[in-house]
Amino acid sequence: MKVLGIETSCDETGVAIYDTDQGLLAHQLYSQVKQHAVHGGVVPELASRDHIRRLSPLTQACLDEAGLVGTDIDAVAYTAGPGLIGALLSGTMYARSLAWGWQVPCLGINHLEAHVLAPMLEDEKPEFPFLALLVSGGHSLLINVNSLGEYEILGETLDDAAGEAFDKTAKLLGFEYPGGPRLAKLAEQGREGIYTFPRPMTNRPGLDFSFSGLKTHTLTTWQQSPQDEQTKADIALAFQTAVVETFIIKCRRALDQTGAKRLVIAGGVGANQALRAGLAKLMQARQGELYFPRLSFCTDNGAMVAYAGAMRLLRGEQDHGHVPVRARWPLTGD
Ligand code: KG4
Ligand code: ZN
Repeated sequence: MKVLGIETSCDETGVAIYDTDQGLLAHQLYSQVKQHAVHGGVVPELASRDHIRRLSPLTQACLDEAGLVGTDIDAVAYTAGPGLIGALLSGTMYARSLAWGWQVPCLGINHLEAHVLAPMLEDEKPEFPFLALLVSGGHSLLINVNSLGEYEILGETLDDAAGEAFDKTAKLLGFEYPGGPRLAKLAEQGREGIYTFPRPMTNRPGLDFSFSGLKTHTLTTWQQSPQDEQTKADIALAFQTAVVETFIIKCRRALDQTGAKRLVIAGGVGANQALRAGLAKLMQARQGELYFPRLSFCTDNGAMVAYAGAMRLLRGEQDHGHVPVRARWPLTGD
């Protein structure tokens, strides 16, 4: 079955084709990041309009890349939530129109599920069950993944998501939106041990996270420090280390609690090299296995939507009648 996947939940337009026999055949992505950077964050209306502009050319590029024509497609999957409602509607309407025109099934996918399943697109893929750390711009979740559709949330953020904390902290240090990757780059120049920041919520039991205090701590430290580049890099490193160590502590706890042997990192912050290295060390010490998607499939993309769609369509699921777009859609919700 060849599934066309469409992702438009935020500021990335992603289109891909996944074949249940041959794997991923094509994927195309357009990032709107530059358009939003001047506004300091994503402007929902601009995002919706740009998705409409990009969807057709990206779909054609995908078909060309795979050497297919539209009528070769057996089903269409699209992100139905959570996300920006206008952006979601752009992708949904486009996906459903294509499916209607081609007379094939169509299915709305949960964006969080697509992130969690993204490592399945790699040669080294995890078997169920596994523990997943989903860390993106909108979410920080520790999830017990038993099988497709069977998820148990073990921990979540009480305030800022990990990517949001990275982006807001980067902004405090003078970087344009989204500054997360830039802050991570700057941290490479930081000197270890110059600053040590708190590891939020690690000295009490439980698996929830909170990052807003750490953000404020970073701002106060920066305001009280010499305003030079080396200091900025030292602070960036201290912030990143605090976030990474917090995730390591919570993952260790969750692994102990569940007895899981496999850990998956997914979502945009999963592209962070320090986080990957820290969790790799943790899993090595426990003789467990760590899985993650390639860097381009950590952040939003169409391939993960095509894959999640293919798995559910294979089970016979498909949309009927109404358009189920949802700005909020918990992973464990109906
Ligand atoms: O998964 P994603 O593309 O979007 C959501 O579904 O939210 O994640 C985007 C987030 C942004 O906040 C971005 O700053 C962060 O992932 N991010 C990173 C890195 N690369 C992307 N944060 C830290 N280090 C990175 N290398
Ligand atoms: Zn995402």
